[in-house]
Amino acid sequence: MNKIQVHDKDFEILLENDTINKRIRLIGIQLNVDYENRCPVFIGVLNGSFLFMADLLKEIDIACEVGFIQVASYKGTESTGSIKETFGLPTNLKDRDVVLVEDIVDTGFTLKYILEKVHEQKPASVTVCSLLFKPKALKEPIEELTYVGFEIPNEFVVGYGLDYNGLGRNLKDIYRAI
Ligand code: XMP
Ligand code: MG
Repeated sequence: MNKIQVHDKDFEILLENDTINKRIRLIGIQLNVDYENRCPVFIGVLNGSFLFMADLLKEIDIACEVGFIQVASYKGTESTGSIKETFGLPTNLKDRDVVLVEDIVDTGFTLKYILEKVHEQKPASVTVCSLLFKPKALKEPIEELTYVGFEIPNEFVVGYGLDYNGLGRNLKDIYRAI
């Protein structure tokens, strides 16, 4: 399916599942090398990262811990800028190597908020691994952004975990609004 409708909007295919999975395999290889003997803590940002987190972690063959945080900021297709934590961070991150796993870095507001909370716990290191990155939408520079699956244009996307007003998270490909 190259074109789909979600609620009132039309979308066309941007990234096929096969392309996504090939890229995730490469990111996994890189993480296995970079974090060997460090027992990192992977923290997925819910809800959007759930499929990426699952597919990425299947590629990780070093010892690691896995956790999640949930935050909410979006209404429809716009970031509201005010972030609400609805489900908290693991509280034992001191001296740990933390990898935050995101579906997408758009304005950067969400990550800025989460990164402040993570740094408060004095981890040994923090990086961000995001499947998608919209460089043209970025309003808060994210120094920790180290692993990026795909840089995409500044357009709203759905699928592979990402939703438009609650729908589309289950789509295995990623679509952009047209
Ligand atoms: P910010 O703007 O804070 O956004 O970097 C981060 C969170 O907002 C969601 N987001 C999107 N969701 N299509 C979506 O379905 C998009 O194009 C989009 N842009 C941002 C996403 O959950 C991300 O974690
Ligand atoms: Mg999200």
